[in-house]
Amino acid sequence: MVLRMNQAQQLDELMICRLNGERKAVEPCTIAIFGASGDLTARKLIPALYHLQKEKQMPTEYRIIGVARREKTDASWREELRGALDEFSRTKPVDEVEWKEFSQRVFYCRGDLADAATYANLAQTMANSSDPAVRGNSLFYLATSPSQFAEVAKRLNAAGLLSKDPGPGWQRLVVEKPFGHDLESARALNRELTHYAREQQIFRIDHYLGKETVQNILMFRFSNAIFERLWNRESIDHVQLTVSEKLGVGQRGGYYEEAGALRDMVQNHLLQVLALVAMEPPVSLEAESIRDEKVKLLKSIRPLQSGDVVRQVVRGQYFAGNVDGQTRPGYRQEAKVRADSNVETYVALELFIDNWRWSGVPFYLRTGKNLPISTSEVRIQFRPTPNVLFAAQCGPKLDPNALVLRLQPDEGISLRFNGKVPGTSEQVRPVRMHFSYDAEFGAYTPEAYERLLLEAIAGDATLFIRRDEVEAAWQIADGIQKAWDGKPLSNREFYAAGTWGPVAADDLLAREGHAWREPVVVNGENKGLAVKRT
Ligand SMILES: NC(=O)c1ccc[n+]([C@@H]2O[C@H](COP(=O)([O-])OP(=O)(O)OC[C@H]3O[C@@H](n4cnc5c(N)ncnc54)[C@H](OP(=O)(O)O)[C@@H]3O)[C@@H](O)[C@H]2O)c1
Repeated sequence: MVLRMNQAQQLDELMICRLNGERKAVEPCTIAIFGASGDLTARKLIPALYHLQKEKQMPTEYRIIGVARREKTDASWREELRGALDEFSRTKPVDEVEWKEFSQRVFYCRGDLADAATYANLAQTMANSSDPAVRGNSLFYLATSPSQFAEVAKRLNAAGLLSKDPGPGWQRLVVEKPFGHDLESARALNRELTHYAREQQIFRIDHYLGKETVQNILMFRFSNAIFERLWNRESIDHVQLTVSEKLGVGQRGGYYEEAGALRDMVQNHLLQVLALVAMEPPVSLEAESIRDEKVKLLKSIRPLQSGDVVRQVVRGQYFAGNVDGQTRPGYRQEAKVRADSNVETYVALELFIDNWRWSGVPFYLRTGKNLPISTSEVRIQFRPTPNVLFAAQCGPKLDPNALVLRLQPDEGISLRFNGKVPGTSEQVRPVRMHFSYDAEFGAYTPEAYERLLLEAIAGDATLFIRRDEVEAAWQIADGIQKAWDGKPLSNREFYAAGTWGPVAADDLLAREGHAWREPVVVNGENKGLAVKRT
């Protein structure tokens, strides 16, 4: 049945335009996943590739070859992946026709990443295709431990599978996070990878950039005149960026002991979101133009010397507490965590961007584990109006306007402004307008990895981190980490699980006359008011 669109819908369709032109064609290729038996492959990569197949976004011809040490056959790996898909797919049940089509393109290649024979075997499997484009175009996805990234690139090169001049086809490396654990190691890894591949062939993942709402930050800013002209120090008082997690470290204690919240979240996700919120308009929507502006922004962040870290950065670690009525252990009681660990599970920081647009505007960032809710949002807090007309009724309490970009959950945008309370009295109170992705576009929200894999196959690097970008972000994180090294946590730096972090994080904002706002929850109780501690 053909549905007739109403006029409004037709107009909407006419107004839709692809902002970066048509997507580059996705050419037939081979996707080799190193770390095929791992958690990321089962939970994210295979479900993402399956959905791309289901949405008819994959190339006409492609193959997926998994590499890992565990003993498996093509058939047993397919069976395992089917189990993973049943569990982790965002659409259920799994479509049998699509699965059949998808699974026959999946192959397993057993071997150790440190063994040259593994790559010879992989080369042989890759050569075993009748389609020259599938043989000639390769995407190597490094879903292994970060310590193995450089070795895989080196051995791929030695086996003739990866080179800076790949001939008629293309060869790309997708590299998972974390990319290094400090500036020095990130630089070393960059040097090693670019020894075997050009920068344009390297796609460094930050899965946050694959989220629809994060991509929408640029669309929102640069396609709406009314907000962009307010987007500066004249109108904006400060910005709050919150990425909170309700879960503790759980089984990831071993990993977390080496990382901490600064390396795990701030260096990558938070600084990436900050860059998109604060960067200047790019000269075009090409990958390099956007990444140039992000790097410029990261380099404009005022460096934190050790005295600044004491003033502008608060770290915290959770002790036992309650989340949703359930008792949670303290971080030091978690599995694989040292009993005297000083690793931070919470960071709040005040950053300043020393450029024309943002001079003097504080950007507050916070992230942590075992916080009251899981949410990611950016709150743009505008300057208050002159308190003249409503001073008698509201005193200093007249709430300034705020725009909240809700990155997840309840993805959308909220605008908070003041309105008259109906009735004979002259009362003013804050009200909100909400835009919700689900209500406007339906519940179709592709996983970040779907978008990222598709862009990597298409060769569009916009959503991936460039070499100078990752190094600029590490430079900021390193300054903070160095100031903390060797300093045990003080009593003020602990917080009970289920609370919004250490009290010192409130003091950080109070000093400037600011307060953290409770993140917006559209359908819940939260009113977006300043957080009160009990
Ligand atoms: N899991 C996530 O949600 C997530 C999220 C963000 C980033 N990441 C990143 O993604 C990467 C993979 O994480 P993961 O959680 O999937 O790790 P994982 O579950 O520990 O899997 C590691 C994989 O590497 C393989 N491997 C390890 N040593 C090998 C060797 N010497 N030779 C061949 N294969 C080897 C393992 O297979 P065998 O044991 O069979 O050899 C396994 O398939 C890491 O860099 C991680 O930081 C993961």
